[in-house]
Amino acid sequence: MEQTLSIIKPDAVQKGVIGKIIDRFESNGLRIAAMKKVQLDEKTAGGFYAVHAERPFFGELVSFMTSGPVVVMVLEGENAMAKNRDLMGATNPKEAAAGTIRADFAESIDANAVHGSDSLENAAIEIKFFFSENEVL
Ligand code: CMP
Repeated sequence: MEQTLSIIKPDAVQKGVIGKIIDRFESNGLRIAAMKKVQLDEKTAGGFYAVHAERPFFGELVSFMTSGPVVVMVLEGENAMAKNRDLMGATNPKEAAAGTIRADFAESIDANAVHGSDSLENAAIEIKFFFSENEVL
């Protein structure tokens, strides 16, 4: 069993597709072990994406992630990290395979509907960033 962090980003929340995205996870064997809807502030979004702090897109990333509420989840299941990334599709929705979340719901590389941890090591760090142990059930 693995756990991974998923964020439904402001564009997808604004579009009203939270339920449709969660259905992709549950229909594919990923259980929601924790979930909350939050409005990120600059400090929290910048801290979460600190690994990208030197990248040219960091400012836009933080500005987008604070533009509206997000839904943060811990997904649990066999191969949860890789499975979530398969379900999401490529970071740039223009390159995302047909039938993936980003191909179906995302508009651009910034407004790309979802975030998912990219390694088990980062999953553990990202889960701790948002949830205390007794919130992951
Ligand atoms: P995410 O998986 O949340 O991780 C970092 C985010 O930065 C990424 O999704 C994109 O939404 C955003 N981003 C913007 N420009 C780029 C880029 N050139 N390469 C990677 N990520 C980018």
